[in-house]
Amino acid sequence: MTNSSFLAGFSFYVPDKILTNKDFEKLVDTSDEWITSRTGISNRHIVEDEACSDLASAASRQAIARSGLVPGDLTHIINATFTPDAFVPNAACVLMEKLDIKGIPAMDVNAACTGFIYGMELARGLCSLHPEAKVLLTASEVVSSRVNLMDRSTGVLFGDGAGACIVSAMPFPANVRSGQILDVILRADGSLSNLLTVKAGGSAHPLRLNDRVGEDFFVQMEGREVFKHAVRSMQGVCLEILKRNNLQPEDIDLFIPHQANIRIIEALAKKMMIQEDKLYINVQDYGNTSAASTPIALAEAWEKGLINSGDTVLLVAFGGGFTWGACLLRFS
Ligand code: COA
Repeated sequence: MTNSSFLAGFSFYVPDKILTNKDFEKLVDTSDEWITSRTGISNRHIVEDEACSDLASAASRQAIARSGLVPGDLTHIINATFTPDAFVPNAACVLMEKLDIKGIPAMDVNAACTGFIYGMELARGLCSLHPEAKVLLTASEVVSSRVNLMDRSTGVLFGDGAGACIVSAMPFPANVRSGQILDVILRADGSLSNLLTVKAGGSAHPLRLNDRVGEDFFVQMEGREVFKHAVRSMQGVCLEILKRNNLQPEDIDLFIPHQANIRIIEALAKKMMIQEDKLYINVQDYGNTSAASTPIALAEAWEKGLINSGDTVLLVAFGGGFTWGACLLRFS
């Protein structure tokens, strides 16, 4: 048994096609000014013919290589998503086939936008059970498959993408840049589930042969209510994880919140008293990529050289369910 887990190989992938705010001006009654001022989003990447497992596969290959591994070294696959390729098989099984590996456990986890942090805790649990564990953790979303682009109040908010890393029970070799998972806190509240839903096609709202798809096939959201809960819940879990680890906000070298909306990010950073230069923001380039949002931001910050040896990084996310959670990392 071991209580430590390590992570490396931070990688991300987004599809080539970009939908700009100007593109939306041609689709619906909106404006670049409205979208930018209310959300901070300018661009989002949208798939043309790729599925969840394709995005996960691209991010995973890089994560495996950056960790100094080959696919055959993996012991488990966890893929966070609410937009899998299909109900069955799960996208992690499709992913393993694309990576040409067989025989190891492969599962999806659905915690909406908090999926990566939920996956982190599951990977950590596997590492404490299996000292040889090398878990491929991906978060991959084709949100565009479940958003009505013709609904201006939700269509402009989301994008597609994937992030990946390897979580290991054993430290990585010195030549692989890596970090350690210090702590994770997960939370959920099902009583608020109706504020953010994608209902149709589930067993409570089944689609029958020849049914037409309605609005409830797509993301439905009470935007203002979600906004308030997002800020309050993320602040609460950040304070909790800092306190539990005897840290102050100023001890955080990089704060990576879920990238849903610039106003949520700024309200949270202000409440947390996080300085601007310690706050990572890329919502302008990708929109809200749901579970993929925090690993994309982590990998991008890593690639830009913003995470140094000894840094403490705090990830936090909030999503449908409601689910929320925070994760504290220390880099070596
Ligand atoms: N372009 C132009 N007008 C738009 C619009 C768009 N893309 N989307 C909505 N509007 C309109 C509404 O129809 C409404 O018009 P009305 O007053 O004539 O009815 C008006 O703008 C205000 O709508 P409202 O929903 O109250 O705006 P808002 O200031 O709350 O901003 C969100 C809407 C969605 C940007 C905001 O609520 C939000 O960011 N919420 C959090 C959503 C989120 O990030 N969820 C994911 C968390 S995981």
